[in-house]
Amino acid sequence: MSAWDTSLGWSLMTILVTGGSGFIGSNFVHDWLAQIDEQIVNLDLLTYAGNQENLSSLDEDPRYTFIHGDIGDIELVSNLFALHQPRAIINFAAESHVDRSIHTPEAFVQTNIVGTYRLLDCALRYWNELSGDEKTNFRFLHVSTDEVYGSLDPNEAAFTETHRYEPNSPYSASKASSDHLVRSYHRTYGLPVLTTNSSNNYGPYQFPEKLIPLIIHNALAGKTLPIYGDGQQIRDWIYVGDNCSAIRRVLEAGRAGETYNIGGLNEKTNLDVVTILCDILDNAQPKADGTAYKSQISYVQDRAGHDRRYAIDAKKIIGDLNWRPVESFDTGIQKTVAWYLDQQDWVANVTSGAYREWVEKQYA
Ligand code: NAD
Ligand code: DAU
Repeated sequence: MSAWDTSLGWSLMTILVTGGSGFIGSNFVHDWLAQIDEQIVNLDLLTYAGNQENLSSLDEDPRYTFIHGDIGDIELVSNLFALHQPRAIINFAAESHVDRSIHTPEAFVQTNIVGTYRLLDCALRYWNELSGDEKTNFRFLHVSTDEVYGSLDPNEAAFTETHRYEPNSPYSASKASSDHLVRSYHRTYGLPVLTTNSSNNYGPYQFPEKLIPLIIHNALAGKTLPIYGDGQQIRDWIYVGDNCSAIRRVLEAGRAGETYNIGGLNEKTNLDVVTILCDILDNAQPKADGTAYKSQISYVQDRAGHDRRYAIDAKKIIGDLNWRPVESFDTGIQKTVAWYLDQQDWVANVTSGAYREWVEKQYA
């Protein structure tokens, strides 16, 4: 598809993506360029979670531009808007790990709140100078999380877009704050914003501090598989490619000012997820000593303030925008394990140095 072929009348042919070198962002950039012939500028600070290797296959692609920098750098961001004249911005950049937010909340306040505020403000100044279709069709899409809604009891209905905000960790509080700022820039200044609140993503390029890649990595390394508390916490898993297709759909057809919940319709306990991973690995890469990977499971101290259950009601995006996830948990998790088995060099590169220090601190 060409950007010119859409019914939206886009005249600007560039999108600005922030945090495109992280997990969801790099999947989004790959999927976008595979499907849409349009320039992408990726602004990323390359924190521990950002990895240029994720997008190295695009080094020679004239449609892709990488800019190393901070979303909170007003001068840099203003210059990027002026130079590249994007028709949309998709804000993935964030500190994203709940456990790290418990140890070091400051970084979450800086990037997720202050950084988002500055990005919004630069976008507003740029948008105010546009006119005609360019102004009407501009979008600021903010990528957020279901964690802003807090924790559900076992029998409570899944999160809808109107569920009250009740964040419980410094991470989710910082994302909730950024969502409110985004909303306010629409209500107060008219900036055409969109917000997506998605459930837990999994798939290629996820940093092995998060549950699924951490379990695969530890299992293969013969290490313990740490389960916080009783392992009965529930997450609603979505394959990252499905979240990316939902974000593209919201960008294309979402109504300015609206929020859209995105979920994969896959609620699972953490213990079930770990057990499924162990079973897949038993088949794909049996252990030399003949024991099952499950024998490496170890129950460890629970996360402080641990949310018990998340579940997404995705009726709005399904009904209004005709989007649906393609992957079931069974198909998505098989693909994911196959990717990690095939990409052990990538895993080795990202788990050197600072990663080891994090693991020692978190699982001491
Ligand atoms: P990630 O941690 O893998 O990647 C974050 C990226 O942002 C990295 O490339 C990092 O270098 C970059 N970054 C951090 N601070 C920056 C700054 N100040 N300026 C520019 N770049 C910066 O995160 P992810 O899992 O890919 O999540 C992406 C977004 O989606 C986040 O906003 C997160 O809150 C949201 N989200 C994630 C999930 C999930 O399951 N991973 C689910 C729902 C929502
Ligand atoms: O719900 C969306 C959110 O999902 C995103 O906003 C976050 O950016 C993303 O990190 C993720 O948050 P979680 O805290 O749910 O993901 P994580 O992979 O860290 O943990 C998933 C569950 O597994 C959670 O209940 C904690 C548990 N867990 C995690 C780790 C790392 C363990 O039991 N052991 C572990 O070692």
